Amino acid sequence: MCGIVGYAGHQDCLDILVDGLKRLEYRGYDSAGVAILNGKGVEIRKMAGKIAQLEGSLNGDGPKGVTGIGHTRWATHGEPNTLNAHPHIDGSGKLALVHNGIIENYGSLKAKLESEGHKFETETDTEVLAHLIEKYYEGNLEEAVGKALNLVEGTFGIAVVHEDEPTKIVGARHGSPLVVGIGDGEHWVASDVSAILRHTKQVVYLDDGELVVITPDGYRTTTIDGHLRDKEVQEVEWELEQIEKGGYDHFMLKEIFEQPDSIQNTYRGRVVLEDGIAHLGGLNMEQHALRLIDRIIIIGCGTSWHSAMIGEYMLEEYAGIPVEVEYASEFRYRNPIVKQGTVCFVISQSGETIDTLAAMREAQAKGAPALGLVNVVGSTIARESDGGVYIHAGPEIGVASTKAFTSQVAALAVLTLALGRLRNLSQEQGRTMVQALEKIPEQMRQILKNTEQIQEIAKAYAHHNNFLYLGRGYNFPAALEGALKLKEISYIHAEGYPAAEMKHGPIALIDENMPVVFICIQDSAYDKILSNMEEVRARKGKIIAIATEGDTKVKEKADHVIYVPATEKMLSPLLTVLPLQLLAYYIAVERGCDVDQPRNLAKSVTVE
Ligand code: G6P
Repeated sequence: MCGIVGYAGHQDCLDILVDGLKRLEYRGYDSAGVAILNGKGVEIRKMAGKIAQLEGSLNGDGPKGVTGIGHTRWATHGEPNTLNAHPHIDGSGKLALVHNGIIENYGSLKAKLESEGHKFETETDTEVLAHLIEKYYEGNLEEAVGKALNLVEGTFGIAVVHEDEPTKIVGARHGSPLVVGIGDGEHWVASDVSAILRHTKQVVYLDDGELVVITPDGYRTTTIDGHLRDKEVQEVEWELEQIEKGGYDHFMLKEIFEQPDSIQNTYRGRVVLEDGIAHLGGLNMEQHALRLIDRIIIIGCGTSWHSAMIGEYMLEEYAGIPVEVEYASEFRYRNPIVKQGTVCFVISQSGETIDTLAAMREAQAKGAPALGLVNVVGSTIARESDGGVYIHAGPEIGVASTKAFTSQVAALAVLTLALGRLRNLSQEQGRTMVQALEKIPEQMRQILKNTEQIQEIAKAYAHHNNFLYLGRGYNFPAALEGALKLKEISYIHAEGYPAAEMKHGPIALIDENMPVVFICIQDSAYDKILSNMEEVRARKGKIIAIATEGDTKVKEKADHVIYVPATEKMLSPLLTVLPLQLLAYYIAVERGCDVDQPRNLAKSVTVE
């Protein structure tokens, strides 16, 4: 949440900052601003609304200078108006600060500073930090930042500039990500690499409690207390085209269409058809240790929590290991039992979700190996986990997760195969799984050719204000995911339920104004789900069914049938979720919603 970018070099930095902010806009987009050292002092431009508005206001008349910081905000303290937008300045007007995170003790810090004569203009916690740094400033910005941060409770990723040290930016992190970009005679700090990928692929990821000073000529990493830290320089693997729309109207649509390739990237090189086995070297566990796992806890939030549920069904059925799925925010604040033999998997697209990170640390504190299923390479969860599986979905920019979900499910399938084959799964079963998995990309392509029908359905139903999504078994979590997609991007109230649970409450809502999306593939629960459909029909509910190709029975019961190819039941959500994503997308477009940046949401949730 909130995006930060900073540049110290030899080029005019306004365009670099604005371009970086646009690429970080998925992190928050209620206001934006820049602070540039223009040779005379700190010049700030900020504005409520999206970055395009800020950019428009700067047109031809922006601050000029070669050192600057920028910010795109997702409001926590104080309304998202221009006054509360970042950067914030200190009392002298010489220091500017951008901040991602929350200063939890800002109330007491503010009271103390006020008693010492500081005057505040905004409602933000960030302005308090700017004044606190001012209090300690004696000509060395990093020292003042370090002293101030020692008094702060909460989370932060920050970048600070000071008029008296015009070529320097100080960055620091605790709980909110910050990466340093290395160039020739120029350096960057940013919340993530997408902001700087256009300029450099050489980066250093800061860890919690670390501080960096960048200047055009170099960078120096220390602890917040000033002890030198040697950090490894890493090479970013993403390409610039991957973070651009490439002709699609929205990132979300592009990412939906990328799924045949992204899931292939997830399992490529990890499964062997001939032997029906899988290798996951990144788990950092020997075979005998993997065999000793007798319980798994899978932790995540949002969409990642839904894929975790599919993982639970897979691992219990095919690897025979008891699995529990936990919301990260719940796990971290209760006292979960984590005995010897338990392994925790944390699932996170961004690898930065604060609750998931905290839950992982809690699992580690209890002595359990914590393994990550993460998309963003070099993210905090990826670095702090004891091992894991990169899902290799590539950059996901649309706030509503799509390709990361299917790659998470594919990675969980590979994990199930790896653990299952060390237990009771036969070579033949293993081969069947690999065969089915390798067919999925082509089957996805087939579904993606059928968008016209889904667009028509979307047009016909976009005016409804409620939707119900029902599925059973592996497709119950898919129903939850379908409902979440619709909620997130079209603001329609939608609920996902196990189909049989409908009778215990939601059935009361059903009438001719309630569209019900059934995921009704031909598996062991098929006949039961047909009965559930009858129950909806009897109450005049409108039925949109996702069914297995060739199924004619469903046609008699549903108002619309979207067909998906047949596959192994555990892999079926990889196919059924595509029409659900597309339905949500086209309904949102039909309603004129901002698909990639839905209101109130952010992609990377780095506050509790
Ligand atoms: C936010 C995003 C969701 C995402 C969730 C968990 O709510 O809007 O799309 O599923 O965070 O994110 P993670 O990066 O941990 O998977």
